[in-house]
Amino acid sequence: MAKYDKLFEPVTLGNNVQVKNRFMLAPMCDDSANHGQVIDQQLAYMESRAAYVGIADTGYAYVNDSGIQVDGQLSAAHDSDIPGLAKLAKVMKKGGAKAILQLSHAGRDSGVSNANGERVYAPSKLKFSWLNYEVDEMTEADIEQVISDFKAATHRAIKAGFDGVEIHNCNHDLLQQFFSAISNHRTDQWGGSLEKRMAFPLAVQKAVKEAITESGKPDFIFGWRISPEEKHGDQVGYEINDMVAQTKKVIDEGIDYLNISLNLSADYNNSSRPSYDVQVKGTTESFPAYFQKVVGNLPIYIGSNVLTADDALAAVDDATGVYVGRELLMDPDFVKKIMDGNTDQIINTTTIEHLKEVGLPAGFVENYADKDGSGRMVSYRNGIPLPGLD
Ligand SMILES: Cc1cc2nc3c(=O)[nH]c(=O)nc-3n(C[C@H](O)[C@H](O)[C@H](O)COP(=O)(O)O)c2cc1C
Repeated sequence: MAKYDKLFEPVTLGNNVQVKNRFMLAPMCDDSANHGQVIDQQLAYMESRAAYVGIADTGYAYVNDSGIQVDGQLSAAHDSDIPGLAKLAKVMKKGGAKAILQLSHAGRDSGVSNANGERVYAPSKLKFSWLNYEVDEMTEADIEQVISDFKAATHRAIKAGFDGVEIHNCNHDLLQQFFSAISNHRTDQWGGSLEKRMAFPLAVQKAVKEAITESGKPDFIFGWRISPEEKHGDQVGYEINDMVAQTKKVIDEGIDYLNISLNLSADYNNSSRPSYDVQVKGTTESFPAYFQKVVGNLPIYIGSNVLTADDALAAVDDATGVYVGRELLMDPDFVKKIMDGNTDQIINTTTIEHLKEVGLPAGFVENYADKDGSGRMVSYRNGIPLPGLD
């Protein structure tokens, strides 16, 4: 067996769907949709990035107009979005990848919704230093509405021809805001104890599952993305074992893969090692190894700071699959080069000019290209809290 063959083994998802290899295009919002609508630049970009991976994930698409975090996010909030989404699904599937639409609601971080004159809401009415607008506490009706909006968006993904959806239960989005003791101070059925704080993510999961069942498509893939823990200095939103407890429940109800969002190194190209190697405190196990015990045979995808074929191979020591984000922005042929034995040709530094040449939509280049010419990419949007591990 050649060194990197393991990366090209098929993966069997929870619903028995076969995926052609262990690579996933990480979900990355490209800041380029036109008021939520897919544009041609995005089609070309996604076609090239999806060409060789087993699973291709879109960036987060909002499920209603109150949940928009950044300009250029995709919309899955309206039936009128379906034709554009259908074009996107089609190009993503061309090379044999499973096309996944990631669904989200940004809760309190819905700055674009605020600018659009929408009411912004979250589990609790709390002030955060980065928010310069008022956030309402969600009413029971708001909560029921968002749950049914996730369901409706899943139906749209199915109609648009996607192979699956992935729920953005991570990166400080609304589902995580409910789960976090820092963000959720409610005393009703949606907050308080650990059980009650997980009620909203579980209700969303149930609604998405219902949509899949109603569609009569058991092959439709249900992915679930988590941030394994939430800690800010001394403040704890939730510990890893809290997320383990939530994940067990979600698996009981039925998902087809787990995607673990891990840290983005602040200094990407100089990071000494991929963040998935970080050990769970008090154990000698990595985050994915720790989760693998919980999920049994269910595939787990991990990644972060994967820049080389060896980084990717190391990821599948501990997990089923590896997601690749920024490296696939810089080098659309990253996976192909590993497949063809041309690892010496992998490009993993960049400049703005290079990013334009490799077909990144303009919004992406604008927001992420390193502007000092040093050949590095900006880690993430300034001002948006990072997903992460302490
Ligand atoms: C430009 C950009 C946009 C991102 N957008 C999303 C997103 O929409 N949804 C999500 O779950 N993660 C998002 N992420 C996080 C990535 O999926 C991934 O976890 C992270 O970039 C680390 O992987 P990498 O080091 O291979 O880039 C984004 C990251 C980047 C760089």
